Amino acid sequence: MQPMSAPPATILVADDSGSAREMLEHTLRAHGYCVLAATNGDEAVSILEGHTVDLALIDVLMPGQNGFAVCRRFKARAETRLTPVVLISGLGRVEDRIRGLEAGADDFLCKPVRQEELLARVKSLVRLKRFIDEMESAETVLFALARSIEAKDAYTQGHGDRLSHYSLALAERLGLPDEDQLALRRGGVLHDVGKVAVPEWVLLKPGPLNATERKLMEAHPITGERICAPLKSFRNLLPIIRWHHERQNGTGYPDRLSGSEIPTTTRVLQTADIYDSLTTDRPYRRALTSEHAFTVMHEEVRRGWWDGALVDEFEDLLKGIAANASREPFAEPRKAELAKALEEERLGRVRIA
Ligand SMILES: [Fe+2]
Repeated sequence: MQPMSAPPATILVADDSGSAREMLEHTLRAHGYCVLAATNGDEAVSILEGHTVDLALIDVLMPGQNGFAVCRRFKARAETRLTPVVLISGLGRVEDRIRGLEAGADDFLCKPVRQEELLARVKSLVRLKRFIDEMESAETVLFALARSIEAKDAYTQGHGDRLSHYSLALAERLGLPDEDQLALRRGGVLHDVGKVAVPEWVLLKPGPLNATERKLMEAHPITGERICAPLKSFRNLLPIIRWHHERQNGTGYPDRLSGSEIPTTTRVLQTADIYDSLTTDRPYRRALTSEHAFTVMHEEVRRGWWDGALVDEFEDLLKGIAANASREPFAEPRKAELAKALEEERLGRVRIA
């Protein structure tokens, strides 16, 4: 009897007791699951590292690595960290549960395991795993889409990953909560995903955009928000996508927000975005040095575009990193060179979206 749509879920059963292991194997196989069996902790780890598993049922007391250690290994690997782990213990003590939770276990079963309880837990956790897989697939597709847009333009390749990196560093410095940091990690790559609806002749046009082209380009934050909105786990990402072209003085788009109406996460991403745009080659100018980039950014803060406090924080952060790496301190920019860079940037910004 198969309780779910194909393919059947694969379950790892690890128990050194032959009779307990056989009971679990038999029950699960009889209900349509694929079972991989391990007789000790080391075997369990090698199965986990060599196979795709949807759920792991791990006995706590086993020779070699015990259940807690196996669980920790499982949860430490990127490939398996979201796979549910159920620890099976004959002790049922509170301390064991606490140790299990600390190791990352998702659920517990007490020996002797009752068949009905086993099947109910397995069914529910496999459903959860399938849901996580679907979410991960959706995220993977969106990331691939964003990277394919980035790859169309040689000047923006790698921009998303650098943006994630800079935004996260600034978010950590500001002590933003984990959910904001996750939104920024995703936002670095996905903030421009709406450009998928912008025609290539507009996206790649080297010169300034006319009014029609500008309208097409300026629709991308709203399109991006629409693309990501169906994913509930992307809720914190939507303000970043929709408002990453707003400005502090209300002259941005699409909603002409101003000041603190622009959420902190969005302002963090903007700070990193401007810096990365300035410090990479563009069709109309070479990459600016870090000190030139910050001079341009401070000038734009004075014009009312960006959050000055965040620009200052980001500059301090990068200076600290440079100092730790024993690099040369920022040099005073040469005035003529700087004026030229500012003017080129001003002209270039006419078309940056
Ligand atoms: Fe954008």
